[in-house]
Amino acid sequence: MTAAPQPEILAAFEAAKGFMPVDEGLALYAAAVEAGRLGLPLLEVGTYCGRSTILLADAARRAGVTALTVDHHRGSEEQQPGWEYHDPQTVDPEIGLMDTLPAFRRTLHKAGLEEHVVALVGRSPQIAALWNTPLALVFVDGGHTDEHAGADYAGWAPHVAPGGLLVIHDVFPDPEDEFTGQAPYRVYLRALESGEFTEIAVTGSLRVLRRTPPTAPAGGTPAPDDRASAPEGETPAPEDRAPAPEGQTPAPEDRAPAPEGQTPAPGGRASAPRPGTPAPGSAASAAARR
Ligand SMILES: C[S@@+](CC[C@H](N)C(=O)[O-])C[C@H]1O[C@@H](n2cnc3c(N)ncnc32)[C@H](O)[C@@H]1O
Repeated sequence: MTAAPQPEILAAFEAAKGFMPVDEGLALYAAAVEAGRLGLPLLEVGTYCGRSTILLADAARRAGVTALTVDHHRGSEEQQPGWEYHDPQTVDPEIGLMDTLPAFRRTLHKAGLEEHVVALVGRSPQIAALWNTPLALVFVDGGHTDEHAGADYAGWAPHVAPGGLLVIHDVFPDPEDEFTGQAPYRVYLRALESGEFTEIAVTGSLRVLRRTPPTAPAGGTPAPDDRASAPEGETPAPEDRAPAPEGQTPAPEDRAPAPEGQTPAPGGRASAPRPGTPAPGSAASAAARR
């Protein structure tokens, strides 16, 4: 059965400022709960005000792991003043720059999930360059230019553990469907073309890919890492699960099966775009980017 958040978590998600529609949030949650079986942290690039973080935090809580979320909190290109996704309430009046960190902290506090999240405040590539811990899930929802989305992929995808999940938001195969740019779609293609990831689910513009486990040598014993990835829908025996990092014990009841009810459709058409289509001919419609 697909893991779903409790009603109070879903209500907190819906109440939070942000951009993710509910169906994509539910798919992200199911993926995060499934990935949490690996007993490794879940990481998001693109915190904004914490809407999607709520779901990762609750999945992390269920698995007994930590959710990490990366953002410089100064907003993406299209969230700046004068652009389509700007929210004046996110501007720090003293310095005149966006600062979504206070809203993010309030969101998590109200949801009762603060202790399950570590916020990493800074530029994604700078943090990724220092990173050295395998991750059960990487959710890419940061900047949407080729520069930023590409750097997020290059910086974080290598840290997805075998059997772990790479989740990409705002994948719009058809340029007519998109209005935040097709860089996430190009990152998605890059991941598939690398041969390192296989698509397992599509919901709206959300794509869930699994790191393809390394092939065992003929007649040989699978490498220890291979044991982390049980076939989809099968619960690995406890001794086969990847060891949880110190202090992180996944709750057995939360070793949820793979997400269900999501149609794998490589290159499939994305769902309706987010609300707030830029006015035709506006700067944002021509070049809206995160
Ligand atoms: C689309 S928003 C994230 C939305 C959020 N996941 C949600 O569901 O509401 C993108 C965020 O990425 C952040 N961002 C963009 N480029 C970044 C970079 N290079 N490093 C860190 N954060 C970045 C922006 O500050 C912005 O808050």
